[in-house]
This record gives sequence, C-alpha cells and structure tokens, in this order.
Amino acid sequence: MRVTSPLPFLAALVGLASVGVAAQGAAPDAPIAVSVDASRTGATIDRNLFGQFAEHLGKGIYEGVWVGPESAIPNTRAIRNDVVAALKDLKVPNVRWPGGCFADEYHWRKGIGPLEARPATLNPNWGGVLEPNTFGTHEFLDFVGQIGSEAYLSVNVGSGTPAEAADWLEYLTAAQPTALAEERAANGHAAPYGIAILGIGNESWDCGGNMSAEYYLSQLRVYSRFVRNFNPAQQAEKRMLRVAVGPGGKEPRFAEWTETIMKSWKGRQWSWDHLDALSLHNYTVVRFPPAYKSVGFDEQAYAEILQATLEMDGLIAEHSAIMDKYDPKKEVALAVDEWGSWYAPLPGTNPGFLAQQNSVRDALIAALNINIFARHADRVRLANIAQMINVLQAMILTDGPKMIRTPTYHVFKMYVPFQQATFVPVAFDAGRYVRGGITLPRVDVLAAKDAAGTLWLSLTNLDPNRPAEITTTFAGMTARSFAGETLTGPAIDSVNTFDAPDAVAPRPARARLDRRGLSVTLPPKSVTVIGVRP
Ligand code: AHR
Repeated sequence: MRVTSPLPFLAALVGLASVGVAAQGAAPDAPIAVSVDASRTGATIDRNLFGQFAEHLGKGIYEGVWVGPESAIPNTRAIRNDVVAALKDLKVPNVRWPGGCFADEYHWRKGIGPLEARPATLNPNWGGVLEPNTFGTHEFLDFVGQIGSEAYLSVNVGSGTPAEAADWLEYLTAAQPTALAEERAANGHAAPYGIAILGIGNESWDCGGNMSAEYYLSQLRVYSRFVRNFNPAQQAEKRMLRVAVGPGGKEPRFAEWTETIMKSWKGRQWSWDHLDALSLHNYTVVRFPPAYKSVGFDEQAYAEILQATLEMDGLIAEHSAIMDKYDPKKEVALAVDEWGSWYAPLPGTNPGFLAQQNSVRDALIAALNINIFARHADRVRLANIAQMINVLQAMILTDGPKMIRTPTYHVFKMYVPFQQATFVPVAFDAGRYVRGGITLPRVDVLAAKDAAGTLWLSLTNLDPNRPAEITTTFAGMTARSFAGETLTGPAIDSVNTFDAPDAVAPRPARARLDRRGLSVTLPPKSVTVIGVRP
C-alpha cells in the first residue's frame, strides 16, 4: 500500500460515488465520528505481536513448508518457494516451533544429521501419524532465514529434561568449539545461530504434562537456570527472550497459575535468570470440541463467534491485573502465543490435522484480536496466531503445488504498517450490531503512528448487513493525503479456494479527504486500513 500513489486516491473518489447504489435506497445511517489526536501517543505496538506458529501438526510443516529435496514443487533446500515468497510480504517477526503439544514430546537429536539417517517417530497428539524428522532444527532455521524472520523455540519440559534442552541451546548458540558446536558445524552451520525467543514448555497444565502451577514453577526455575543462549551477539542487546507457560482460559485455576508464577518471579533470587513473558493461550471457540463450521455458517454463528473472539480483551485485562500486583513496571510481558479461530475439522480430513477454511469472518477475527493486543501494547508484546499454514486460522492453504492466501493473510499484510508503530488513542462511539440476543460493537477502530509520521487507521465493520460511514477528524496533525484498502467478500462465509484464489482480496478503500476530515465507507463485514500522511 503506497500512501502517495495517486491511483488509490482516484479509486477512492470513484468508489464513494457508488455507495448510494450499494445501499439500495435505504436511509443512510449518520456517520460515525472518530477523533484522533496524533500528538497523544501510547505504547509501541511490538512487531512481535504479528508472530506465527508452525507446529508439526497435519499439513502445517510437511506439505505446507517442507516438500522434500526430490519434490517437483519449486523449492529451495526442500522448502517451498511460493510459501516463502508469500510469507516474506508479511514481514513475519518470529515463528514459534515445533509446538504446541508436539514440543513436549519432541527430542531434537532425532531431527539433526543426514536426512536418510533420521529415525521415524510418532506424532500421538495429532492423528498418530509418522513423524519423519526430516524437518528438524537446521531446516527450521533455514526456513526462518528464508522468510526473514526470527526463531521462537519451544523446549520440551513435559517429557524432556533440563539437560536435553540445555544441550539443544548449546548446540545452536555456542561460538566456542565445544563438542556440540563442532557437531553443529559438521551438520553444516559453523556460525552460532540466533535464537530470539525461548518458550519453556507449552500448556504444562494440560498436554504439556498435566502439571500443577507449583510443579511447573519448580521446572521453570531449573530450566531458566540451565538452558542458556551462548551466542556472543545475544548477551546484551539482542538477548533471547524467555517465555514461561501462563494461563489458558477463563477457569479459576488459571488466575492461580498467573499468581503463582508472578509472585515467585517478584521474590526471585539472582540465579533465576531473566523471565520476559508469561504466555496466554486463548482460542476463538464457543466450546470444545469445536463444532462450528469454518464455511457454510449462518449469521447467528457469525455473531456467536465474533462474541467469543472479543472475550480476548477481558482475559488479557484479568491476567494483566494480576501481573500488575507483582510487576507494576510491566517488565514481564503477556505473550498471547496461541490465538485464533478453531472450528470443526473440514469434512473428509483427518480430525487430528485441524484443517479448516478461512473466511471473511476470520479476517474480522484477525483484525479484532490485533486491535485488542495493540490496546494492551504496554503489557502484550508478543503474540502468535495458530497456525501459519494449513492448520486452524492459517495464513496460507496448500494443495499439492497450489497455494492460496487466506483472508487472514490479507489482514496481516494490511497491518504490516502497524508493526513497531506507536499506539494513538481514538475516541468514537462504536454503536451496536445486534443479532439473536447477541449485542456486539458495530465498528472497531485502531490508530497508530509510524516512524515517518504516517497515521494508520484500521476500521472494522462487524455488521454484516449495513455499511458504516466513518468521519475521522485529526488533531495534532494536518492530514494531506491518504491511501487505503478494504477487505471483504460477497458473504460472511466467503473464502478463497484453489479455483477462486482472490475471491476475498483487498480492494481500494472508498474514502475522501476534505476539510471536514477523512470520510470512509466501510462495507458490511469488512476490514479497512488507511494510511494518512501529514
Ligand atoms: O494449536 C493446536 C494446539 O492447541 C497446540 O498444540 C496446543 O498448545 C493447543 O492446545
């Protein structure tokens, strides 16, 4: 999206003229007034909020990323080129790997060395399929390098040992010629790798080992002491972030979990090395097992799912408040390192593969959650949508050599300018969208300012039936030009398919800038991102 391009500006004027036709004579609603004071800024919207999650699950890694050295699908060192190119455009800040539940049964030594010598193991969590271990440590870091991202490793606490995890980190990061560093060099990588983020366990209260908070805490302290990053370049400025397992939902036991970890962190002694974040897992699901369909749903299901997704805000607020008691300076972040929609598996797929379609509704879910994270940017500094390819709320779907970008992908791309931008508070009356006993805000608005001074607005219309007219006025800046895009589709459950890959794709926004401010027409069920230049 180029702010100075005259083409989107012209398109915006033309588009505005067609709004009356789209409304088919219905009495227009009064415009919703949004006021932005660009001189009032808040926290930085950490680019790590746009992290991805790639687990050994279904077709997330095998087929989605790794096609093998003999594949006819264009690839670089067995990693598919189309996927790499698409992900590069998202400026993915970090990729969490290898799980998920898979991480607590993963033994890294099985995934290094010559491919043909690697043992096949099982993946009991996800369909009981064979795990060939052909995508291991070096392949993951190659992939991360190809897409220009950073590694977020989850180490095995559930069925591993501190020694196994410590060895993995030494293997990866030691610069001195230790036996492990030499083994790494023999496997093709002489220089130490950079590991940006380390997760100590995953959902240790459940698939990660059914631990109590106290038991996990004792593990966390040991792993925090012994699992070290030796990379000389990461001792000060680029210090590896450590993420502890945190809460996973609304149950009272999770409040206790957060209390337990944070209380202990506050009273820590020198030998408990730094802790940078507590994870929070929260999926958009009305109840487990997920029964809502990812495509072919009605408006009631649309509203129920959006209502469920907005619960993210309360959950973050609840756990931030607990953290504030022990960490008022917000040194420990909340890392929402698993979030996204979780629907019933697509008919005909292995239920353990968590395959689902991705619709206009998911585009709204993505925008609404990112907006929530940004509003909590002082505490929420890392997030990972689940999952990157072919699993749950994916960016990308593949079918053999074919690849499509989902509506969620497009939202992540539209939001790239929000990475590292500074939050700007906005005032607006969200209005109401009511459906079958559910009342939701009709619109949502996020504003942020980037380093060049461009003010970015994200405008979401939740109402699937009525367009919304937004008039934004600016204080603290003079708005001189703009450009923007809108994402929507013909129906609430419109999706991209391998036959129609661009059914849901961004189009120029319908907007006009004049002395009164910026007027934007939001189509029903849409996400619009506009950059306004001073
Ligand atoms: O993302 C799928 C699974 O959901 C992850 O493996 C686990 O951490 C969570 O329960």
